[in-house]
Amino acid sequence: MIYSRIAGTGSYLPEKVLTNSDLEKMVDTTDEWIRERTGIERRHIAAEGETTVDLAERAVRAALDAAGCKPEDVDFIAFGTTTPDLWFPNCGVLLQARLGCRGVPAFSVETACSGFMYALAMADKFVRAGEARRALAIGAETLSRITDWTDRSTAVLFADGAGAVLLEPSTEPGILSTHLHADGTYKDMLYSGGGTDARKTRRAITMTGNEVFKVAVSTLSKSIDEALAANHLERSALDWLVPHQANLRIIQATARKLDLPMERVITTVQDHGNTSAASVPLALDYGVRSGKIQRGQLMLLEAFGGGFTWGSALIRY
Ligand code: COA
Repeated sequence: MIYSRIAGTGSYLPEKVLTNSDLEKMVDTTDEWIRERTGIERRHIAAEGETTVDLAERAVRAALDAAGCKPEDVDFIAFGTTTPDLWFPNCGVLLQARLGCRGVPAFSVETACSGFMYALAMADKFVRAGEARRALAIGAETLSRITDWTDRSTAVLFADGAGAVLLEPSTEPGILSTHLHADGTYKDMLYSGGGTDARKTRRAITMTGNEVFKVAVSTLSKSIDEALAANHLERSALDWLVPHQANLRIIQATARKLDLPMERVITTVQDHGNTSAASVPLALDYGVRSGKIQRGQLMLLEAFGGGFTWGSALIRY
């Protein structure tokens, strides 16, 4: 029986930091409101000309270093993003050209904030099936490019960054299970237009925040229960929750439903903001590099986003 395990993690944040007090000068908001309602204190914003693939490449090279692998070892690339460099070729292909692993499958997954969860699930399946040996799952975003910087309800939330995980085959599980879902009937609650649909030309992120909030909290706790039940595990078995970093209140509500103390939850939202598909791999890499998440520990990753789409993964690190 072949499983996949995490061989290495990596992440990258652009240099420029935008604080809440910077935002006070841009829109009608306050540091206090942003902290209280979202938990966000600062976020990183890509430099002019810096693209999603630029950020991803840095994260991927860090993950490869951590795993002791070379770019040419990679044989599968699944790239979650909502903010691709081009309509096509996709970001996976653009990254592949930079890494030099010509010929291996490379594609992007556009499932908004759960893009990394979808990428991870696919990478896991290919490794388990014996069709890939070194599979990259990536989440990278330059959401600042699709943020309306005059709209206070969204400008304070979204940010840029990238995270990556390299999977390799293992005789012991690693990734115990992944669970993916979508419900397209919520398509109008959170979206970015500017595609080929002439009825939705507004490119900036459009969201009914409080409605999204309610569905996110109830969906995420169900998603966590689903992953634990599939593995016949109790909530107490979890060492770490590595949640999507959209809003500290959503994370706290999820942890409460799980009876999990906040000390066992990786939170980076205060420093990263909501980086959509990049959020979970960024938090995971922070958890690993800070020494919190240790080899052998059990962690649950989850994300929820536009669509709606959502997913979870139960992983023995
Ligand atoms: N600064 C100050 N006031 C603001 C503001 C800002 N940046 N943004 C909105 N407000 C105001 C609103 O205009 C509203 O004012 P009103 O009562 O006079 O109409 C008030 O704050 C409350 O707005 P509401 O949207 O109900 O606030 P909220 O407590 O739901 O918090 C979010 C807003 C967006 C932070 C919150 O709903 C959220 O995080 N939602 C989920 C977002 C999410 O997870 N999205 C991505 C999923 S991946």
